[in-house]
Amino acid sequence: MDNIRYDEKTNSLYIVDQTLLPNEEKEILLETAEEMYDAIKLLKVRGAPAIGICAAYCLYVLSRKIETESGQDFCAKLEKDADYLNSSRPTAVNLSWALKRMVALAKANSAMPVEDICSLLLAEAKAIHNEDIEMCRKISEFGLTLVKDGDGILTHCNAGPLATSRYGTALGPILLGTERGMKFHVFADETRPLLQGARLTSYELYKAGVDVTLICDNMANTVMKNGWVQACFVGCDRVAANGDTANKIGTCGVAVLAKHYGIPLYVLGPTSTIDLNCKTGADIEIEQRNPDEIKTMFYSKPMAPAGVKCFNPAFDVTDHELIAGIVTQKGICRPPYTESLAALFKD
Ligand code: MRU
Repeated sequence: MDNIRYDEKTNSLYIVDQTLLPNEEKEILLETAEEMYDAIKLLKVRGAPAIGICAAYCLYVLSRKIETESGQDFCAKLEKDADYLNSSRPTAVNLSWALKRMVALAKANSAMPVEDICSLLLAEAKAIHNEDIEMCRKISEFGLTLVKDGDGILTHCNAGPLATSRYGTALGPILLGTERGMKFHVFADETRPLLQGARLTSYELYKAGVDVTLICDNMANTVMKNGWVQACFVGCDRVAANGDTANKIGTCGVAVLAKHYGIPLYVLGPTSTIDLNCKTGADIEIEQRNPDEIKTMFYSKPMAPAGVKCFNPAFDVTDHELIAGIVTQKGICRPPYTESLAALFKD
C-alpha cells in the first residue's frame, strides 16, 4: 500500500492513516482543506518528505475547487490555501518547500487558462513525488557505503517508506542492503511520546524481514555500551546551513551518546530538507505539541495528574559537531558543513 496515493480517475487523494498503525492498515480520503490540515497536524501523514509530497497533492486537489476564470485571482486563492496548509506544522521545511514550489509554478503561468494551470499543478505534484522516490534510492545507495554486513545500526523515530516514498532515508540503506542479502541488526528507539519507532519503524523493518529489536529511548546507552551499535542513522526535518539538524525529539540525546562511545551518527535526507535560510539550528522553529500526548495518549487511563505542567517539543536540534556525515541524494557531506552543504546548491 502506498502511503500517499492520488487516484487520477476520481481526482481523489488517499493517505495511509499512520496513527492507526501497526494495528490497522487503512487508507483515508482527503477532500477538504480542513481534513488535509488535520491529517498533517495530527500526524496521519508524517515524516518531512511525506508531508511535502502530500501537501503538493492537497494543493492540487484544492486548486480544482477554485471557482474563477482569472489566473491572477486563481493564484491569490491558491496562495491562501497554501498558507493554511503550511500553518499545520512549522519544523519540517519540506512542507513549505513543496507548497512554495507549487504556488511559484502557478504564478509563473498565471496567463494560461485556469484549467491548464491545474494540469501543470498535478504534473508538479507527481514530479515532487517521483523525485522523492529517486532521491531515497540514491540516499540509500550512499548510506549503504557507510556500513558493512553484520553491523548493528540504531535509529530514532521513523524515516522509512511511510515517512517518504519507497525506501525511505534513514531506513533506506538498511532496506536496500537487506534486498541485496546483507544482514544488519537494527535497534529501533520507541520514540516517546508518539511512538513512531515502535509503531512504524519496527513495523516496517519487521515486515521487510530485517532483524530489528525495539528498545525504549532510555536503553540506547545500554546497547551502545554493550558494543552492539556500529552506526546511528537518523532522518531530518530541517538542516541549517552549518549542519545543525532538527529531527524528532531525542535525536540529540542519541547523538551525544554516540559521540561518547565513538559511534558515527549520520543524518540522511534529501536536499529539500536543507534550509540555507537558517544559518544555525537556533533559527529553526520547534513545534510544541499537546500535553495529552505525554499524559494520556496510548494509556488506558491517565498517567499524570490532569493539571500537571508538560513540556512537549516535537523536535530537537543536534549540533553539527555531533554529526559524522549528512547523506543526501547528491552525496555524503562532511564537516565543515557550511562549505559542503552550500556546494550542493552550486549547480
Ligand atoms: O513528528 P514526525 O513523526 O513527523 O517526525 C518525523 C521525524 O522526525 C523524521 O525523522 C523526519 O521527518 C525524517 S523523515 C524521512
